[in-house]
Amino acid sequence: MSGHFTTHFDESGDIDHSDQSSQINEQTMVELRQIAARYPQARSALLPMLHLVQSVDGRISPKGIEACAELLDITTAQVSGVATFYTMYKRRPAGQHHVGVCTTALCAVMGGDALIAHVQRKLGIGVDETTADGKISLERVECNAACDFAPVMMVNWEFMDNMTPEKADELLDALANDEEVHSSRGARITSWREAERVLAGYPDGRSDEGPTAGEASLLGLRIAEENGWRAPDPDSVPAPAPEEEAK
Ligand code: FES
Repeated sequence: MSGHFTTHFDESGDIDHSDQSSQINEQTMVELRQIAARYPQARSALLPMLHLVQSVDGRISPKGIEACAELLDITTAQVSGVATFYTMYKRRPAGQHHVGVCTTALCAVMGGDALIAHVQRKLGIGVDETTADGKISLERVECNAACDFAPVMMVNWEFMDNMTPEKADELLDALANDEEVHSSRGARITSWREAERVLAGYPDGRSDEGPTAGEASLLGLRIAEENGWRAPDPDSVPAPAPEEEAK
């Protein structure tokens, strides 16, 4: 019996070497060195360094790969291997705002599949594409651990909960018109590049904005409080017998 495997990771592939453009400058190199210096083993800094590259170049650029390899004394192949493994790293320029729609099981059955089809029609682009004006890029994302707010969308990695096609229209129109947009549980939406700079370890001062937990996540806590339920005190839990520990 033969079958066909269909991947939703349309971004799979190598770094785009046909586009050699880059805005990485001496200041970027200083910041890349700062990030590397934060770690006892410098190469542990590669992930945040790649986020800084994206904040500058809007993607993982060939020059960004070379800069990381040079500063960490590793090969460009090793850097490319990491950059092409994680879907948060983009081989083509993301839009001013990067939108994700979760279509993993729970979001899918709660409307995520219909939502991503609607967003594609609305924007006139496919998954892993960017609108012609560079405003919005679209990605199909895997479970965001926000299933209690399904279906969820993300804008520049911030949560937009309990989405519907109508709410998606309002959101996308607001982003396209540069209106202020607030995440359901998080900060005001900045640009994707600014968000990438935060992920590189340069805070923008917005981490305390907005609610960090929503009602659906807190419901279990409230029920436990009403019933006087408490988690066991770890110190009062007897240690396992040696033979159990060995199993
Ligand atoms: S399935 Fe979408 S957040 Fe978990």
